[in-house]
Parts: sequence; structure tokens; C-alpha cells
Amino acid sequence: MKVLPLLFFLSTAIVASHCSEVASEGQIHLLRPQSGSGGRLLSGLSCLSWRLAVEANNIIEWETIPATCEGYVGHYMLGHQYRKDIQAVVYAAIGYAKSLNISKDGKDIWIFDIDETSLSNLPYYAKHGFGAEPYNSTLFNEWVFEGKAPALPGTLKLYRKIVSLGIKPVFLTGRSEDQRKVTSSNLKNVGYRSWLKLILKASSESGTTAVVYKSTHRAELEASGYRIVGNIGDQWSDILGTHEANRSFKLPDPMYYIS
Ligand SMILES: *[C@@H]1O[C@H](CO)[C@@H](O)[C@H](O)[C@H]1NC(C)=O
Ligand SMILES: *[C@@H]1O[C@H](CO)[C@@H](O)[C@H](O)[C@H]1NC(C)=O
Ligand SMILES: *[C@@H]1O[C@H](CO)[C@@H](O)[C@H](O)[C@H]1NC(C)=O
Repeated sequence: MKVLPLLFFLSTAIVASHCSEVASEGQIHLLRPQSGSGGRLLSGLSCLSWRLAVEANNIIEWETIPATCEGYVGHYMLGHQYRKDIQAVVYAAIGYAKSLNISKDGKDIWIFDIDETSLSNLPYYAKHGFGAEPYNSTLFNEWVFEGKAPALPGTLKLYRKIVSLGIKPVFLTGRSEDQRKVTSSNLKNVGYRSWLKLILKASSESGTTAVVYKSTHRAELEASGYRIVGNIGDQWSDILGTHEANRSFKLPDPMYYIS
């Protein structure tokens, strides 16, 4: 594991979160054990090709990253490339947002997903094999309830631009309604100061897929007269479905897949 990119990520994360605990958690990255419990990589496929196919929504419905790609995904996530890939998406999104003719009626909205979009759970995933370990909701929710997720710096920049242009931000997340308080304070602590709506998954919706859940809420927003000019998420299920935004932006996430 290269130390330099790791420190680069963490130092920015600390600035973004004002959270010194992230630094001490970061030391665990260096000692990260190989969990060895991930899925299998098709023979002859490189981890880079696997990641590209995942990002392009060609390889779908996978449960864990290939076990042999844990080191590759870890280096990608902690190094410069992940951050540069985010910057490219944000650059395009800001260019698009600036090109819009925003109406004065306050009905133009931009949807932001939360996990791996507005907030980063990298401090958690670095301790859990970068997606090589099967998802454990108990452990992940414990991390969520700490409320210490740093912002994705690129998304925070986009959020600020959106707000300054007069577009209203809406957070639409698969996190559950009982996580509203901690999610709200986590968002505010890292710089997402206000929003039109923060939509979390009600317990009655727990059985629905992300595509259906998110499409349903986009439909409700449109029925209330809002125009969804933009949408950004790390999962295709944040973006695809019905009532899609005028333009959607897909952030990288090679660690997990949500349908
Ligand atoms: C922007 O929108 C307003 C109101 O809908 C319209 O009158 C105006 O022509 C638009 N401007 C451009 C450049 O499209
Ligand atoms: C999740 O992690 C906890 C704590 O390590 C463990 O007790 C539990 O069995 C795990 N759940 C699953 C489904 O692996
Ligand atoms: C955005 O999408 C809606 C619905 O598809 C469409 O009516 C509208 O013209 C689009 N706006 C722009 C600026 O493309």
C-alpha cells in the first residue's frame, strides 16, 4: 500500500470533515488484512477491465468484488485515480448546471444520493476489504450512526455551485428513516448546510429495490411541480428507472452494487 496517496486522501478528508478521528482510523488502512472472501474474477479478466465493466453497468448484480481485486480496488479508492475520476464527473456536472436557464420559481431541483456520493464511507470500507467482505448491515449501520463520514470533496463543490445557481438540492438516500437525525447532522457537519428535502427510506419501503424506491420519489417530486434538472449518484439504481433527471451523473464506485 502506497503511503502518499493514502495521506493525500485522508488529509483532504479531515479538512472536509473537521474530524480528527479519521486520521487514527486511517492507520488501519496500512495494516489492512486481506479478507480473502470476495467473489471470483473470470479467468483472463484484469481487475481494471472488471472495474470498467462495473462502472459502465455491464457487469451487474454482483455481491462482492473479486477476491483477487481487493488490493487493486483498495489502491484505486485510496489513491489519486478515484479522486481524479470524481473530479471529471463533477467538472461535467458543473458545466451542465451553468448552462441551464434556471427559472425564478424555485422549482428546479438537483438530486444527490448520499453514500459514496455526498458522503464517503471509505474509512469503513478500508477496514472491510473494500467490498471483498460481504455486506454486513449491522456493522455498516454502526458506522453510519457514528455520523463521521467525510464529504466527497468533488460533490461538495458541485452542491455549492448548484445552490449558488439557484437550484434546490434534494438528498434522496437508501438510508432508513431512523437514520435521519445522524444523517442530517453528518451532512451539515461536513458542509452540506441546507436542502429542500432529505428523503430517507420509510420502513414500509424496506422491501423495494433502490430503482423502484428512487423512481417513486422522483415521480412524487415531479407531481409536486418540481423539475429534476440533474441527478448524481454512485449507483446506476440512483439514476435509472422512471422520471429520470434531464441529465444524470454517475460517480465511480467499484466497492459495491445496489439494484
Ligand atoms: C430562460 O427562461 C425564461 C423563462 O422561462 C425565458 O423567457 C427565456 O427566454 C429563457 N432564456 C433562454 C436563453 O433560453
Ligand atoms: C455482522 O457482523 C457481526 C459482528 O462482527 C457478526 O456478529 C454478524 O454475524 C455479522 N452478520 C453477518 C450476516 O455476517
Ligand atoms: C427536462 O425534461 C423534461 C421531461 O422530460 C422536459 O419536458 C424538459 O423539456 C427538459 N428540460 C430541458 C432543459 O431539457
